[in-house]
Amino acid sequence: MQVAITRAVTNYPLKDEAATMAFGAQLARLLRPGDCVALKGDLGAGKTTLVRGLIQSLLGDVDVPSPTYTLVQTYDLPDYDLWHCDLYRLENPNDAYELGLIDIMDEAVCLIEWPDRLGDLMPPDAKEIMLEFDGDCRIAKLSGFGDIHDPA
Ligand SMILES: Nc1ncnc2c1ncn2[C@@H]1O[C@H](COP(=O)(O)OP(=O)(O)O)[C@@H](O)[C@H]1O
Ligand SMILES: [Mg+2]
Repeated sequence: MQVAITRAVTNYPLKDEAATMAFGAQLARLLRPGDCVALKGDLGAGKTTLVRGLIQSLLGDVDVPSPTYTLVQTYDLPDYDLWHCDLYRLENPNDAYELGLIDIMDEAVCLIEWPDRLGDLMPPDAKEIMLEFDGDCRIAKLSGFGDIHDPA
């Protein structure tokens, strides 16, 4: 069974793809309009899988492609727009203005793979999820989620 995300725990073992998806679904309840989440980890660590779990928990069985080439993929959610970004191919941080990403950050939820590509344009108060390999499994390490309200 999936361990609930709580304030007290920062490291979450994810034993398989389904666990990563379920973890993404749990994260959905922590996000508010204007939140920016840096998704860190090497290629294949599970960043896109986590976002897929998050979006499908909110929208059902929709297609959630990796924005590898489009750089951004947007989703209309009931309470906010969600921007899923993969900035691996962003050549210059300032190109993010042309994508509309910088202007939308105050009001949308932005989930950003390869956030380092934004340099100083990455909000300093962004939440962070680091996905690390652990044999065939993964570990998710959370930071910056200071406002988690533990379920009663
Ligand atoms: N917890 C996990 N344990 C093992 N494999 C996983 C886990 N989570 C995801 N995967 C697998 O790892 C790969 C991750 O791919 P992807 O999500 O595209 O990574 P990224 O976006 O970080 O490059 C997929 O093949 C997925 O099935
Ligand atoms: Mg990816």
